Amino acid sequence: MKTGSASPTDPNLLMSALVLVGGVTLILLIFLTQPRNTQPASVSTAVLSEAAISAGRTLFLTVCAACHGPRATGIQGLGKPLVDSAFFNNRTDEEVLAFLQVGRPVDDPLNTTGIPMPARGGRLNLTDSDLLNVIIYLRSLNGAATNQ
Ligand code: HEC
Repeated sequence: MKTGSASPTDPNLLMSALVLVGGVTLILLIFLTQPRNTQPASVSTAVLSEAAISAGRTLFLTVCAACHGPRATGIQGLGKPLVDSAFFNNRTDEEVLAFLQVGRPVDDPLNTTGIPMPARGGRLNLTDSDLLNVIIYLRSLNGAATNQ
């Protein structure tokens, strides 16, 4: 065999290919077996993840509490209660998320206060997963079980 040129049957080349395939498989395996947040989006009465609740609580207190109160019991003239809210409790997480994405302007027939609910609570940089965490936090205030 000539040195320097790699023929398709070159054992070094075959070995490199094997190492490459092995490496890629290993990386794929590591990736696929990583624990992921398997919390389904629509859990209303099921077990809620503590991590999501905690992240949601922080966001709620910094964004939503200004109008809805630190305990989500509402503030007269600013925002409705989110505890024992039929609107909230009768909707799936996806439906509440869809609501939060657009908010509720004063000309919406569902608006009862004459005050607008701003889209994403007025923080347009909140992602959908941020909002889902807030929803999960609110579920926990409304009596849905946590896993701790
Ligand atoms: C600037 C004030 C303000 C902020 C901030 C705000 N809201 Fe609201 N929200 C309102 C008002 C006012 C309403 C009620 C509008 C109406 O229907 O009369 C409302 C309504 C709602 C409703 C519907 C309640 C019902 O029973 O109809 C939900 C759910 C809600 N807000 C969630 C949130 C969440 C979650 C956040 C934070 C991401 C947030 N809001 C931030 C003012 C606010």
